[in-house]
Amino acid sequence: MTTTHAPSAPLPEVLSQAARRRTFAVISHPDAGKSTLTEALALHARVIGSAGAVHGKAGRRGTVSDWMDMEKARGISITSAALQFEYRDAVVNLLDTPGHADFSEDTYRVLTAVDAAVMLIDAAKGLEAQTMKLFAVCKHRGIPVITVVNKWDRPGKDALELMDEVSERTGLTPTPLTWPVGISGDFRGVLDRRDGSYHRFTRTAGGATIAPEEVLPAAAALAREGDAWTTAVEESELLDATEADHDQERFLAGETTPVIFASAVSNFGVGALLDILVDLAPAPTPRPDAEGAARPVEAPFSAFVFKVQSGMDAAHRDRLAYIRIASGVFERGMVVTHSTTGRPFATKYAQHVFGRDRESVDVAYPGDVVGLVNANALHVGDTLYADAKVTYPPLTTFAPEHFAVVRGKDTAKFKQFRRGIGQLNSEGVAQVLRSDRRGDAAPVLAVVGPMQFEVAVHRMENEFGAPVSIDHLPYTIAVRTDAASAPAVAAARGVEVLQREDGELLALFMDKWDLRTLQQRNPELTLEPMVAAQL
Ligand code: G4P
Repeated sequence: MTTTHAPSAPLPEVLSQAARRRTFAVISHPDAGKSTLTEALALHARVIGSAGAVHGKAGRRGTVSDWMDMEKARGISITSAALQFEYRDAVVNLLDTPGHADFSEDTYRVLTAVDAAVMLIDAAKGLEAQTMKLFAVCKHRGIPVITVVNKWDRPGKDALELMDEVSERTGLTPTPLTWPVGISGDFRGVLDRRDGSYHRFTRTAGGATIAPEEVLPAAAALAREGDAWTTAVEESELLDATEADHDQERFLAGETTPVIFASAVSNFGVGALLDILVDLAPAPTPRPDAEGAARPVEAPFSAFVFKVQSGMDAAHRDRLAYIRIASGVFERGMVVTHSTTGRPFATKYAQHVFGRDRESVDVAYPGDVVGLVNANALHVGDTLYADAKVTYPPLTTFAPEHFAVVRGKDTAKFKQFRRGIGQLNSEGVAQVLRSDRRGDAAPVLAVVGPMQFEVAVHRMENEFGAPVSIDHLPYTIAVRTDAASAPAVAAARGVEVLQREDGELLALFMDKWDLRTLQQRNPELTLEPMVAAQL
């Protein structure tokens, strides 16, 4: 079913373009330096003239990856966007992910759209909670991971100790490509383990320009750095003995992770990371459809929606659906089919969006991300295709753990209220649950992390003009049930059954004991667990 039609573009073009693509996301715990690294990467690729004067979040002009008021106020990244740039002969797509745990569902969706991930670790903190969760998602999805140990210019852990931590806690064998010269806090540079050369660390003023790289042969490095160089060489030799050399097959199989040491704020290591992405990270590969058949990248156009977003910018009050192209060539203006409804969808307004910047996309290839403007019919997880029909598997919705009733404060604004709630639902900001008992004016919002409520409240008021109040409900668990079981489940004490927008019936329980008791007493009832947020 996936390969019955002739490809929509000459084979060599789509294949060679796909082969040039490197589509990845940076995963990290908040504060590890993701925004700084993103800017540094963009600077390196000369997308922006100078990194947004990286002198602390408060003073920042607004990094290219953050734009919502709330994000700025809180200094966290909630929304996701994609940055595209050329580096060497490759086209790099960097997808932004929110760092905060409360938005893990959002991050999960972004990770369905990448071919590799960069795990950014703070040298002083090592692997933190959110890094581990995101890493679990990468492992689950078989995404190859490149590790960057950041902030080596600041006192932190020992390099070998960090490698042990990566190996013990992730199960991946770290294969350092560079090794630090000088302990953390005394960053002299790195030993390139592939050719033994020394790359000297030079600070740039505020990291606002590309750091000039000084590369020296081993003898000159020894003369310059003395003991620090000798230690680095010895430690690197220790690594040689522990199978810590890069092996491309094992990397792609998710068994090893190449590691580099960096100082994103000084732009050091950023060029090395880009080189690794181009040289080692995988290009787009055939994507399995809902039946498990892989659709070749050269098959006719197909893409899936991994993110829907609106109201990003006061000047552009519109709704964007971000698609990741899975196969074929996208040409602006082409009419494609929306797999869910079978209806045609015109792609007249297609844009690259990053931060506040937008530019029209005329043509795009597998691996690329395109923002479709005013794509009101598109929901997260939907498939678009041309010629040969395909449907990609729906994106996983996580088990919500927090529930609240949402009501409009102003009854005269019911229309705005309904529109806003519908929008938040289709973007996946919150799952919207309803029941006859609660009525249309008081649906229940179900979320993975409580900060999603804040986003919902903020957006209902500021974007849809419908101020709302939130009343938290005491439930902590949602399980799937069905129409046959629903009446008996709903009759149990402390349990409520509601219907999600997609028709799924969810039973909400206060705690796992209530759930267990009901299951034990009535084993015939359908009560299926949902995918846990932490996988
Ligand atoms: P995030 O997006 O992962 O949350 O992190 P972000 O880039 O905002 O970086 C968090 C802080 O860490 C920033 O300092 C940033 O300048 C700093 N930072 C990032 N990379 C490096 C690095 O390589 N070396 C050093 N020394 N610092 C780095 P900030 O906004 O001033 O926050 P704070 O330090 O005042 O708390």
